[in-house]
Amino acid sequence: MQETAKLELNGIPYELPVVTGTENEKGVDISRLKAQTGYITLDSGYANTGSCVSSITYIDGDQGILRYRGYDIADLCEKSTFMEVCYLLIYGELPSAGDFVSFKDKVLYHSLIHEDMKSFFTAYPGHAHPMAILSAMVCSLSVYHPELLQPDQGAGEKDETMAHLLSKVRVLAAFAYKRSVGEAFVYTKPELDYISNFMHMMFTTPVKLHQTDEVIRKALDVLMILHADHEQNCSTSTVRMVGSSKANLFAAISAGICALWGPLHGGANQAVIEMLEQIAADGGNCKKFMDKAKDKNDPFRLMGFGHRVYKNYDPRAQIIKKYCDQVLHHLGIDDPILEIAKGLEELALTDPYFIERKLYPNVDFYSGILYRAMKIPTNMFTVMFALGRLPGWIAHWKEMIDEAGALKIARPRQIYTGEPLRAYTPINQRAA
Ligand code: CMC
Repeated sequence: MQETAKLELNGIPYELPVVTGTENEKGVDISRLKAQTGYITLDSGYANTGSCVSSITYIDGDQGILRYRGYDIADLCEKSTFMEVCYLLIYGELPSAGDFVSFKDKVLYHSLIHEDMKSFFTAYPGHAHPMAILSAMVCSLSVYHPELLQPDQGAGEKDETMAHLLSKVRVLAAFAYKRSVGEAFVYTKPELDYISNFMHMMFTTPVKLHQTDEVIRKALDVLMILHADHEQNCSTSTVRMVGSSKANLFAAISAGICALWGPLHGGANQAVIEMLEQIAADGGNCKKFMDKAKDKNDPFRLMGFGHRVYKNYDPRAQIIKKYCDQVLHHLGIDDPILEIAKGLEELALTDPYFIERKLYPNVDFYSGILYRAMKIPTNMFTVMFALGRLPGWIAHWKEMIDEAGALKIARPRQIYTGEPLRAYTPINQRAA
């Protein structure tokens, strides 16, 4: 029998259907509430609102579980690659050997950007934030591919659009970095894999060819897998929202990049390092900064702590921490920032404020330390997150668009609390 929820408004009972997910998570379906009752629901920040049903990613925030298409995140990090995870997220299944080769070839093939676009980079001031450049460049890609902008694309065109983005966003990110350090742009090499190619485009110069270091390549691959999707987070919801108007995928991803930039979302990885550097410069007094974070009169928050969904240790942070130790040891780096981070975590895990609110290190807490060790500059950290999150954004856009009849423009309601109807007063009759 269909489970229902009962709601009574003004003495009138209503029965609302309950939707049950694969892992028995429950949602009250209110899609006919307004039509039936005239009421809407109010849920600031959407903390209790499901915006869609999705078969891409499962999170159990209390248990610290994260799965893509049913596969555990730790298993994927250990045994898979970012490219394979891209395929898995977008197409729903692990690829056959043949399909995987075609997919990788297609991504490699689309790595060239129109030469005219190179001049865009030089128009930005050298200090421009690479997230601003990336977002603008991704939107600009649409200008060069009018054939990929039709709102009702067939499967083949969708595949092309997705491959263009998977390949080109990585190139644009590396070019943004090269622009910021005043070096010549470097192109992909066909013999390199996705991650090695990215490192090559970032760090090869006319006088030094970048050589792939396997420990670093694997760590970066894992970081990308860990960032690849996280269901209906702020940027993914933005991509879905923009895509729901049938705006093209380039525009939707560009909007997602802007949403990710904020320090409460992906921008936290940059904010964490800046905070750790601030603590180091202040003599390494972690307790002082913990106290600041707990002081309700102080806007300071412990960056890299807390999560809307995880009320247990973020499984991604656990994996990153392990790679952090490994990479720093491999490179022989003794980064005092890592010690401060560990000290801060130790304090937080035993502090009643953090325990009561279930605030644990999140994905952004240790990732910056890894990027730093890889010589990726701090203002590129959120760009790295965007690169990793790209397949998730694409997968959600595809899932939504493919729902054919079910696609609805995203358009929340509100409760108006402004002035009631007023008579207009001409300017010369208004009080001074
Ligand atoms: N430091 C100090 N107090 C905190 C923190 C923090 N980092 N995070 C939450 N709190 C407190 C908050 O003040 C509130 O206390 P009270 O109940 O006394 O008012 C309580 O914990 C609940 O916080 P909230 O803001 O209602 O929680 P939220 O689910 O709306 O926000 C969050 C989640 C991630 C925005 C927030 O924890 C935060 O601002 N963290 C720091 C920024 C950060 O690391 N962001 C990256 C998130 S993970 C990657 C991603 O999603 O991109």
